[in-house]
Amino acid sequence: MAKVIFASDKITIETKDDSDVCFVADKAKASLPFDCYEGVCETCRVLVDEGGENLSEVNEQEKYTLGEEKIAQGFRLGCQIKIKSGYVILRNGWD
Ligand code: FES
Repeated sequence: MAKVIFASDKITIETKDDSDVCFVADKAKASLPFDCYEGVCETCRVLVDEGGENLSEVNEQEKYTLGEEKIAQGFRLGCQIKIKSGYVILRNGWD
C-alpha cells in the first residue's frame, strides 16, 4: 500500500501501489484541480514536499509543460504522476 498526503487539504489516503495521483485525489476529494488530464494545461500543478522519490519518473510531457526550473523546485503535474509505493506529501502548486 502507498500513502498520499494532500497537505493543502490536510487529507491522508492510502491507495494501491502504482496508483494515478489524479484518481487518488478524486477519491480523497482533495481540492487539487484538474482540467486537460494530458499534461498540457498545468492546472494540476503540485509541489512535492516529501517523498518525491516514491513518484513515477518525470516524463517528457512534464518536462515540456513545467520546464527544468520548476521541476528542480519540486513541481510535478498531478495528472502525470503515479505513487509507486511508500508515501508522498503534495500541496497545491498554486498556493
Ligand atoms: S490537468 Fe492539465 S496538465 Fe494536468
